[in-house]
Amino acid sequence: MATAVAGKGLEGIVAANSGICWIDGEAGILSYRGIDIHELATFSTFEETTYLLWNGRLPSAAELADFTAQLAASRVLDDSIISLLKSFPSTATPMEVLRTAVSALSMYDTDEQDNLHDANVRKSFRLTSQVGMIVAIYDRLRKGLTIAEPDPSLSHAANFLWMLNGEKPSETAVKTLDVALILHADHELNASTFAARVIAATLSDIHSAVTGAIGALKGLLHGGANEAVMRMLFEIDKAGADPVEYVAAMLAAKKKVSGFGHRVYKTEDPRATHLRRMSEQLAKDSGVSKWYDWSRKIELYINREKKLNANVDFYSASTYTTLGIDVDLFTPIFAVSRIAGWAAHVIEQLDDNRLIRPRAEYIGPAYPSAYVPAENRR
Ligand SMILES: CC(C)(COP(=O)(O)OP(=O)(O)OC[C@H]1O[C@@H](n2cnc3c(N)ncnc32)[C@H](O)[C@@H]1OP(=O)(O)O)[C@@H](O)C(=O)NCCC(=O)NCCS
Repeated sequence: MATAVAGKGLEGIVAANSGICWIDGEAGILSYRGIDIHELATFSTFEETTYLLWNGRLPSAAELADFTAQLAASRVLDDSIISLLKSFPSTATPMEVLRTAVSALSMYDTDEQDNLHDANVRKSFRLTSQVGMIVAIYDRLRKGLTIAEPDPSLSHAANFLWMLNGEKPSETAVKTLDVALILHADHELNASTFAARVIAATLSDIHSAVTGAIGALKGLLHGGANEAVMRMLFEIDKAGADPVEYVAAMLAAKKKVSGFGHRVYKTEDPRATHLRRMSEQLAKDSGVSKWYDWSRKIELYINREKKLNANVDFYSASTYTTLGIDVDLFTPIFAVSRIAGWAAHVIEQLDDNRLIRPRAEYIGPAYPSAYVPAENRR
């Protein structure tokens, strides 16, 4: 028996019990397993944060070393997946490629048929490593470059940059990406994670759940926003426009400016604080300050005019661009991190599962409506 009608977009609805991520949207607090994101961004690494998300507590030094080694040892892709990546049309976007390749991974995973906790953890290790590999390898293939083989001595962030660029990344680039990966790793029941939990709850499998999550992440209102921000900045540049006038015209035309607003945060998105800082620092270090400067001007204007704050995607755009990363890799990089959260949620869901099956408030034609034979229809 349905009891309550949710508001549009399920706003404010609590749809699951979860011990992974806690957000206070009014106070601008984000925490993983109770630990504030500011502390994690300052002191942790992607590997340690992933351990925290999956195990519910920080690891000992030995546990972290073991976890890191296991993640590095999982940097293996079947040759058939590489062939698949080579087979895609040149028009394929990295997000489409990632979605399709992750779906195909299940066919080469020895634990495919096993949906129990330990198998899901093993698959999570593999998926976490493979998502990064697929993004980096596809980018090199589409550019006609040879594949840079994974380096088990490198961290998740460093290995990604190595496999992407085929050269040793700078310490600054590794640190920046590592912090970005920590910031993006989980965010409670965001659209892609909710999609993953819904799929997992049917007792489907983690590859299906992550494939669905990638599809959800791709959208402009979710992970696709970081690419949209950069495309807007490029458009401003191309048009020789003033950034503030450009967004003022967008708002006047009732268009949304990507990278602003949030369903949950009513104050600054705590992740944006770090991305703004990193974007500014990279601008100083690189001598290329245009993207940061324009972003800041736009942010101040939208804060003032619309009382909207920058979200995680806004300064990701200038940060990644200053690191020399192509714009259509921004959302895939979100997935390179969020796979940690998706896996944590799928494991949590399946550890205490019940089918997720809400009801709809019916607003169609009245029941009973007559079935009119075809010859009598007007
Ligand atoms: C994130 C987002 C989808 C949340 O959506 P939501 O909770 O459904 O909020 P709404 O879209 O209903 O927005 C509420 C109001 O703020 C306005 N608003 C929200 N985000 C806006 C934006 N980025 N630019 C301009 N106006 C915005 C809406 O137009 C609406 O105004 P109205 O009440 O006058 O119609 C929305 O803020 C958005 O589309 N942002 C841009 C995309 C983005 O950055 N996504 C990444 C999120 S991390």
